[in-house]
Amino acid sequence: GELKSWSGEVETVRSPVCIRHADGKLEQIELGSYPVGGEPEAESALAAAVAAYDEGRGVWPTMTVGDRIACMQSFTNQMVARREDVVNLIMWEIGKSRADSEKEFDRTVDYIRATIEALKELDNNNSRFQIVEGTIGQIRRTPLGVVLCMGPYNYPLNETFATLIPALIMGNTVVFKPPRYGALLFYPLLEAFRSAFPKGVINTVYGRGAVVVPRLLDSGRVNVLTLIGSSKVADHLKKLPPKAHRLRAILGLDAKNAAIVLPDADIDLAVKECLLGSLSFNGQRCTALKMLMVHQSIVEPFLNRFTEELAKLKVGMPWEKGVSITPLPELGKVDYMTQLLEDAKAKGARVVNAGGGASCGTLFYPAVVYPVQEGMKLYREEQFGPIVPVASFEDLETALEYVISSEHGQQVSIFSSSPDQIGRLVDPLVNQVCRVNINCQCQRGPDVFPFTGRKDSAEGTLSVTDALRSFSIRSMIATKQTESNKQ
Ligand code: G3H
Repeated sequence: GELKSWSGEVETVRSPVCIRHADGKLEQIELGSYPVGGEPEAESALAAAVAAYDEGRGVWPTMTVGDRIACMQSFTNQMVARREDVVNLIMWEIGKSRADSEKEFDRTVDYIRATIEALKELDNNNSRFQIVEGTIGQIRRTPLGVVLCMGPYNYPLNETFATLIPALIMGNTVVFKPPRYGALLFYPLLEAFRSAFPKGVINTVYGRGAVVVPRLLDSGRVNVLTLIGSSKVADHLKKLPPKAHRLRAILGLDAKNAAIVLPDADIDLAVKECLLGSLSFNGQRCTALKMLMVHQSIVEPFLNRFTEELAKLKVGMPWEKGVSITPLPELGKVDYMTQLLEDAKAKGARVVNAGGGASCGTLFYPAVVYPVQEGMKLYREEQFGPIVPVASFEDLETALEYVISSEHGQQVSIFSSSPDQIGRLVDPLVNQVCRVNINCQCQRGPDVFPFTGRKDSAEGTLSVTDALRSFSIRSMIATKQTESNKQ
């Protein structure tokens, strides 16, 4: 609830965009720095959140829904006034194109506004009295306590706010740790947090996740952990001492979404959707298509059309107009992409387009790899980058088995013009993943639809209304019907 000055260690933030020095050495451009808070800062942020919640007696959890909405509206107005700063920071910090950075900002504002409307509706429904078998009840959605929010680097603003905003507006207090890439873009919003919400309701703590997060969880004072990020981090957090296990967890994790392209698919449509689905924001979306399973009878024309369309994508810097492929967040990520390609090539696959090389350090040209098979890293590993693995299948069972045997379970896309074929696949698939997309790419939006996953892809459900439910509990106030209260 207050902005603190800092004289301790700082972490330098570098842009994905590189400069080349005269000696040929590449260096990612320095953008700024953030404070490396440690255990004392984690404790102080947590203490503020715990005090503001005050076991449910605090100003914020007891405030009327209308007053909480007014605070959120004030925050939104201040956020909108800072649009240009935040958009620029998204673009420079994570290398997202200007157009996509603007979309991310605007989508987030729309999400907050939709959340406000959904809460009004929920509150209207809840304020009615129900009389059942002589008991009068009024159901209320009540907060859960202190929520720890952590978002990912690929949608640093949007995915962080997809949990932070519903958590706050339901009356919880929040400790928020910004992502490593995308830490600076919250600076312009810190003053808005401070001025829009009562003291201690939202507490931003900068620092290394490996130090700050265990300290917060170990306190036993965090009631809900939300992480949109990697399954590896979530697994690590779950292995922390027992107190961490009693948490409610809302997690959005890894995915290896597949597209299944059947022989009777409209190839132009399938290519267009698969291209967007696998390469928007360089394939760095949890919902990206990370494996294309194409029927062997059409794999050749499919690959030809796909690589033709891919060649039209503009590769360049995030501020360039019409750019699709932009730099990856760090040089290490380029190395990882190269390793995946080398592994596939060593095991018999080839890069079927002119992709795969890097330029300007972090700019990686998208690579289409075929035939990808079991045993290659690309077959099962989530590449989260600009590589499109393609496998072919002969019978539908093989494609289905790929999805069933995956450790992930977020979404799948089917491309076919036959309602019968689609029908045969939909029922088994919808029990394996949480969204089956017919003749379109995988994606999270529109944000009113449920967003979740099975297996190790998610815990809990997000969407405008699901998130309000996820961050609250249904409590009730009840009394017996008597002669005097019957009226
Ligand atoms: O990275 C995961 C995001 O939830 C993807 O969202 O499908 O709207 O790009 P999107």
